[in-house]
Amino acid sequence: MTQKKLYNITTFGCQMNKADSERMAGILENMGFQFTEDPNNANLIVYNTCTIRDNAEQKVYSYLGRQAKRKQVQPDLTLVVAGCVAQQEGEQLLRRVPELDLVMGPQHANRLDSLLDQVFAGNQVVATEPIHIYEDITKPRRESKVSAWVNIIYGCNERCSYCVVPSVRGVEQSRTPESIKAEIEDIARQGYKEVTLLGQNIDAYGRDLPGTTQTGRHLHTLTDLLYYIHDVEGIDRIRFATSHPRYFTERLIKACHELPKVCEHFHIPFQSGDNDILKAMKRGYTHERYRDIIAKIRHYMPHAAISADAIVGFPGETEQQFQNTLNLVEDIGFDQLNTAAYSPRPNTPAALWDNQISEEEKNDRLQRLNHLVAIKAGERSQRYLNKVEQVLVEDINPKDTTQVMGRTDGNRLTFFKGDLQELKGKIIPVKITEVRAFSLTGEALSLVSA
Ligand code: SAH
Ligand code: SF4
Ligand code: F3S
Repeated sequence: MTQKKLYNITTFGCQMNKADSERMAGILENMGFQFTEDPNNANLIVYNTCTIRDNAEQKVYSYLGRQAKRKQVQPDLTLVVAGCVAQQEGEQLLRRVPELDLVMGPQHANRLDSLLDQVFAGNQVVATEPIHIYEDITKPRRESKVSAWVNIIYGCNERCSYCVVPSVRGVEQSRTPESIKAEIEDIARQGYKEVTLLGQNIDAYGRDLPGTTQTGRHLHTLTDLLYYIHDVEGIDRIRFATSHPRYFTERLIKACHELPKVCEHFHIPFQSGDNDILKAMKRGYTHERYRDIIAKIRHYMPHAAISADAIVGFPGETEQQFQNTLNLVEDIGFDQLNTAAYSPRPNTPAALWDNQISEEEKNDRLQRLNHLVAIKAGERSQRYLNKVEQVLVEDINPKDTTQVMGRTDGNRLTFFKGDLQELKGKIIPVKITEVRAFSLTGEALSLVSA
């Protein structure tokens, strides 16, 4: 038996999950647990899970199997499954892995302490009922010391026909502008330089909060929030994700242009470049509208970085319809694109349709798309060559420890020679000397913050 109370959290999935894990880690430390790198050393293990695609879900079961075996010889081991698989499977997860102590959905992350109290009292606990998300009172144990995530809206009210998120994350719940600002001020006091505001559909921020303006607009929108938090002293950069083309406004574009701390990087998933597929996906926009948004962004901010997500092989997608996705990528030239082959998910309409595309076809399209993405990203990188970019230094380059790494305003990973101790958390002007599709290398022009 270990003397100390040691915990480990393994996180799968998106930034939302990463932010939840940081808050759960904060709660555990409050309860007297200490972090250990090695799960095999820990007496409390949390798997914060993702179910966006089938392979994400399956990964969890293989990890769980190993620790369940360990529990048979070490009964004081506490096993927790949190996050989206927990929400999706609930009780069934206990049947499948009876060694589990706690199964908890993402809405319950801030309640980890009271749920564990029930576990330590000898219960096997499942917490998946929808709840009002309580304000987080413990301090998150954040991974980075430079850049922090701040949830501003939980859940999603959209019903994209392929997507499991609404059923596992529940309805939209916006935090109040006051509590968001208070968290950012606290982050700034701790020395962080960058915040990323998070939401699955961040443009929905505020529509569940009370109040409208005289013109009928919601009183609290993402745009208003950006103005409201902008001047928090100590924070130099503000980012946000994920944007939804259906709700993205010109007012927001203008705000990003006007507010100097808001980075000129937009992550706006388009999912498909074909209008019929977009309709079947229930996305609520056309590729023309998407192109229009990007044109508007580039009108105000010609150098803005644009990234997105796309799905290939959605049920019924023809070769011609897939070509329309390639055309969109060709025309827009994304700085980065997360691509995925469609994966049928439980409790989603598209999973039940009988016009599914074969795995071979999906993989073939995925490869063709990825090939084009790399070419276009490489072209986009060229614009940085011999330019000076402002890089916020975050860490050491794990592949070359004489170099540090950080991100440009447009979110490009950038490496340059320097000493982390001295540079961490500083924004350094770097002349770019080498470009690759998804990263840059340069030389510091000055080792003093710009
Ligand atoms: N809220 C964001 C995306 C959340 S999920 C949005 O609306 O764009 C992250 C990405 O996973 C999605 O953008 C989509 O590209 C991908 N994805 C979601 N469901 C999927 C599925 N069933 N199969 C394959 N990819 C999927
Ligand atoms: Fe899923 Fe659509 Fe909500 Fe994004 S907007 S999380 S894709 S349902
Ligand atoms: Fe995965 Fe849940 Fe995020 S399914 S992508 S961890 S919202």
